[in-house]
Amino acid sequence: MAVITISDSCKKCRVCVELCPNLIMKVNEQGQVVPQAERQHLCIECGQCMAACASKSITAGSLSYEKDFFEASRPENAAAVFDDLIHTRRSVRNFKDKAVEQEVLGKIVQAISFAPPAFPPIKYSLMVINDRELLKKSLPLYISMYEGMMKMMKNPIPRFFIRRATGTPRYKVIRNHLMPIIEADMPLLKNGSEDTLMRHAPAMILFLQEKNSEDIQADVYIAATVGTLAAHAYGLGSTIVDVIAPAIQRSPGLRSLYNIPDDKDVVAALIVGYPK
Ligand SMILES: Cc1cc2nc3c(=O)[nH]c(=O)nc-3n(C[C@H](O)[C@H](O)[C@H](O)COP(=O)(O)O)c2cc1C
Ligand code: SF4
Ligand code: SF4
Repeated sequence: MAVITISDSCKKCRVCVELCPNLIMKVNEQGQVVPQAERQHLCIECGQCMAACASKSITAGSLSYEKDFFEASRPENAAAVFDDLIHTRRSVRNFKDKAVEQEVLGKIVQAISFAPPAFPPIKYSLMVINDRELLKKSLPLYISMYEGMMKMMKNPIPRFFIRRATGTPRYKVIRNHLMPIIEADMPLLKNGSEDTLMRHAPAMILFLQEKNSEDIQADVYIAATVGTLAAHAYGLGSTIVDVIAPAIQRSPGLRSLYNIPDDKDVVAALIVGYPK
């Protein structure tokens, strides 16, 4: 449970009382601002109270002023920059044969860490694969995984189990969108003329989560979206690719090639590179 402390430097301005989404602070009979013991467990460490406290008098859980907060200046043309970013971003599926600098990928990772999670702290981790040769080497493993899946989807009994394992909404995405594309692309994938899975991307960012942990799919896709915007801002192109994570999940060969830890699930993937 996050412990909230308010120091003697508190100016009793009550800003934190008003800002806390879970109404944790209150003004007591002596006029002091205090955390309510019976509500402290509701703290999601959103940091709103700390960000707004001019005298830095309040600390919530593991957050610290040194590590988690910094002065951010907004450029005067921030609105125009934002408009440009969202109006000109598109999913990029054709990449130059050019490696991406580790430093730029690091900036994308950092940008992703600013994406809002439903219930802080962030519960996914990122794995950056910045190795075109490794990605190339892994393509046949995706192909054999999806060949097996195509066979299973044609047979009502395995299909029933896939539906039960994934749940009906996800199953419908697989049946209506993913499998028709995979089926149509399979000859091209197999003869090596096209890579419609990783699109010959030089780099890929994987989103991992602890096995058997809570549902953070929304967090992950919000974060991946921030990743696509960041990639665009830094001169790269990217696409969230839905067919990558489930393939890695089901293929021991892919898990081993990418060194996915045994206690992690792969839940999303973002391919990244310089746009052609
Ligand atoms: C959750 C999600 C999954 C996606 N999966 C794929 C995919 O498997 N393959 C692909 O080529 N694009 C995929 N995309 C990219 C979408 O097709 C793309 O965002 C959409 O066509 C809109 O185009 P835009 O991103 O250029 O605006 C995915 C996007 C999202 C948000
Ligand atoms: S915002 Fe800071 S100064 Fe104001 S009441 Fe809360 S802890 Fe005290
Ligand atoms: S971190 Fe967020 S939830 Fe926790 S006390 Fe501060 S404002 Fe409330």
